[in-house]
Order: sequence, then C-alpha cells, then structure tokens
Amino acid sequence: DPVQAPDFTKCGDVHDFGSGAALDAKCCPPVSDKIIDYKLPPVQTMRIRPAAHRASKEQVAKYEAAIKRMKELDTTDPEDPRGFMQQANIHCAYCNGGHDQVGFKDLDFQVHNSWLFFPFHRWYLYFYERILGKLIGDPTFALPFWNWDNPKGMKLPPIFDNHNSPLYDALRDPKVTGSAIADLTFSGSTDNLQLVANNLTLIYSEMVRSVSQTIDFMGNPYCAGTGPGPGAGSSERGSHTGIHWWVGTKDTTGPNKFNEDMGNFYSAGRDPVFYCHHSNVDRMWTIWRDVVKNDVPKDITSSNYLNAEFLFYDENKRLVRVKAGDCFDQKKLGYDYDRIDLPWLNYRP
Ligand code: C2O
Repeated sequence: DPVQAPDFTKCGDVHDFGSGAALDAKCCPPVSDKIIDYKLPPVQTMRIRPAAHRASKEQVAKYEAAIKRMKELDTTDPEDPRGFMQQANIHCAYCNGGHDQVGFKDLDFQVHNSWLFFPFHRWYLYFYERILGKLIGDPTFALPFWNWDNPKGMKLPPIFDNHNSPLYDALRDPKVTGSAIADLTFSGSTDNLQLVANNLTLIYSEMVRSVSQTIDFMGNPYCAGTGPGPGAGSSERGSHTGIHWWVGTKDTTGPNKFNEDMGNFYSAGRDPVFYCHHSNVDRMWTIWRDVVKNDVPKDITSSNYLNAEFLFYDENKRLVRVKAGDCFDQKKLGYDYDRIDLPWLNYRP
C-alpha cells in the first residue's frame, strides 16, 4: 500500500537520522481540524525560475523582500505555518522522525533515501514558492535555482553571500564564499579546474551513465510499512548530498552541531540557500525526464508511488493533502525553469 499522509496531531520528538540520538528541537507543525484534498489551481502565468547567479535586480529584490516577511512572521505570529522557522521545521518533522507512518507507530515517516525524495521536495518547494509570492503580493514570484551543474553556477550564488541580506545564514562552512567551487564528490581538492571536472563527471554519471532503470534515478520503493531509507537515487545520493555537506559548518567548538545548518536534516531548512539548492535538485528531475533521451522509462507507474500522500500548509494557511503522482509535470504546477545549457550532458571524460 502507499504511505498515508502523516497525522499532525500525533507529531512527536525528533532524533538524529544517523545515530538515533534525541535532538533538542521542536519541529511539529500546527494542527488543523480540516484537511483539504488539494486541487491544482488553473495556471494563469507560468512562474519561470531563474538561475540564482543570473537573477535580475528586480527578482533578487523580490526574493529578499519575501524572505524578510517570512522571517518577520517568526516573531509576529510564530504559529503561522508560513513563517520561516515553521517552513524549516517541515523538513525536520518529515526527516527526523517527528511524523510516524499512519498504522505503523514504530516506523518514522522518512522522505529521504527512497522514491519519495523527488515528489516530497517538489511539493514542499511548490508551497514555499507560493507562500513567498503571497507574502509580497506577487503571484508570479519564482524561486531561483542554484545552477551547480554549470561551471558558471558552481560557487555559492553571490546573493546568499551577502551578510546584510535576509538570504544570508551564518551557519555555513567559512570556505563556502567568493569564488570557491563546490566539491560535490567530497574530493577534498582545492583546485578549481579539478573540482569543475569532478562535478561534471559526477552529474553526467548520475543523470545518464549510471541509470539503467527508473529507480536508479528516482530511488527505491517506499510503501506503507517500509523502514526508513530503502535506498537513494543517483542524484539524491550524489550532487544533492554533496551540496548539503559542502555548505554545512564543520566547526564544533561552539554551541553548534557538526554540519549545521545545511548538512543536517533537522536544520537544513534554516538556511535560505536550502530552497535554492532544492530548486536545482528539482530541475535535475525535470531535465532527466524531459531532456535526457534514452530508453529508461521516466515515470514510476506503481500505485504505491502515485498515491503516496503528504500534508502541507498552502499560501492561505489551509492544510492540504497532495499525492506523489500529481506532480510529474512541473508545468501543470505552474512553474518551469529558465533554459540554460547543460555542459555535463555530453561530458564523457
Ligand atoms: Cu530533504 Cu536536501 O534534503
């Protein structure tokens, strides 16, 4: 059977995914007495997500204004599910055992390391983007993507590197700044040319070379009763994790834990760059499905996938139920990605 939407009224304590140790964090969402089966609204204007390093002044100004509003909600109305910490806590609750599987109270609802990874994060960003747009009164607002699959976008996007911006987060590794190139393969190299070559090789591999069946890319089946983390797809395991790890702080001398914010499930959503990173993770799914031509079937057809459910609060604070199978086509969700060349696509070193 497909996994059912979690019961927010039963949300509980959270623990570290790896070690199981209890975490000192409160991640549960507000409860609501009404749950609405979500219907995709008709698309009026397509939101076109830009590459973060190419976003216009106007796009950046809107993005900053929207995040600022979202952060203000944390103080003016901490129970508003659209607030910055509330949004960050969604990730924590779905990834650190806050939610159990309905009918299996000893099993965590875990959206990573399985085929739930892409649809969960797609819906998460979908509502996050609509909330940002709502907070600044702009229904065309589109979430930029961190274009780390292109050498021009492989450093931290400069808009996140500005200490005076609401997009800044102090809990990052200090080397993640300026022209430093992301180390997606954990190579430890500091040679930018080598890093670019490693990254392009990795992305070609996880998008093309190492994918011979659908679940190689999408991740292993996760159904009602499945234990957490049956196996990640190539992109989740590779570039996705690489960025998380690269950005998180390695400093454990202070009060902070190793790899906060980006490198830990429970804290990752506290860094605004998380959503911009995941915008590109989501774009890689779109590109794999629409651009990469081979005979691997792109869509999972199992009803255990199609009917897997998640709950989110929408931009009007309504608690809604969505299904994994309803988000294959980003255009039906009202957004698409700016077209950028794909230097990894024919990259066979
Ligand atoms: Cu939910 Cu990038 O992790």
